[in-house]
Amino acid sequence: MVALARSTVMPSPSDETSEFAVDVLKGLSATRKRVSPKYFYDAVGSQLFDQITEQPEYYPTRCEMRILQDNAADIVKLIPEGAALVEFGSGSNKKARILLKSAPHLAAYVPVDICGEMVEQEAAELRPDFPGLNIHPVTADFTQEFELPEEARNAPARIGLFPGSTIGNFEPHEAAAFLRNAAKILGPNSKLIIGADLVKPAEVLNAAYNDAAGVTARFNLNVLVRMNRELGATFDLDTFEHHAFFNRERNRIEMHLASLKRQKVKVAGECFEFRAGETIHTESSYKYSVESLGALARGVGWAPSGVWMDEDKYFSIQAFTLTEAGSPKP
Ligand code: AVJ
Repeated sequence: MVALARSTVMPSPSDETSEFAVDVLKGLSATRKRVSPKYFYDAVGSQLFDQITEQPEYYPTRCEMRILQDNAADIVKLIPEGAALVEFGSGSNKKARILLKSAPHLAAYVPVDICGEMVEQEAAELRPDFPGLNIHPVTADFTQEFELPEEARNAPARIGLFPGSTIGNFEPHEAAAFLRNAAKILGPNSKLIIGADLVKPAEVLNAAYNDAAGVTARFNLNVLVRMNRELGATFDLDTFEHHAFFNRERNRIEMHLASLKRQKVKVAGECFEFRAGETIHTESSYKYSVESLGALARGVGWAPSGVWMDEDKYFSIQAFTLTEAGSPKP
């Protein structure tokens, strides 16, 4: 707690580590041990994720790119002249690029990410290719309220972009909170374009999170490597195993790290006991339908206004328009 309070006063890399420590200690002390999926993405984890997207079993990235490429001209019809495109959690500019190319009538592009270095670098990469576009990166945590740059606030409309099925990492109530926050940030005259993975046969889902090359397993186990390095933890990698399965009742893939034996592990000076077979829940990846995401969005004032899918209906791009009911009250 002390570490968190201090971080608001003087942010430094070591405070990032202490936030990690505080979060991990809390998660491992729970009856059902858990660690947030946001901690997957250190340098190695980000590389492993890129490799996951290239595995033959992992369809989401390929499907989403395909849907964007095939329907860009149609999707950008949602974007009024002079609007600003605001991308939430811009990990890579690959997807935004497709829309930017098809929407020369956009006035501004605002990539938002908690990692300032990443958004700045992406903006720098895009600028030479879109000389007429105002590119304004913002470093912020988009699960919290933040202010858009003036160009975006003054634009006649704002279009949020939330690709990658990142929304699937939220619990449904958190997804609703995100949609409410997006309404606050974007304000009146806004739309939202969301990439959401769809419910489908369990075999397809299970294969996507258990690729034959074992990349997803390495990605999952890497969070133990990270804890060993950054928190002085004593996880023995040979005694934990990657488990991923589709939970049909909750429409989500669950990823866990299962202890293969009864053991004790030290993390940040504290000792944790594992029963044989006990797991750390490391990720939930919710799968939606057009109806279920539509209902969730409607409930917080976003009216469904367009859907695009691949042939197999594995993945969806869903568009929403902010209604009077969802608009922030002055
Ligand atoms: C980045 C959250 C969309 O849930 O499919 C991929 C992360 N985890 N393989 C997903 C992930 C395991 C991914 N998201």
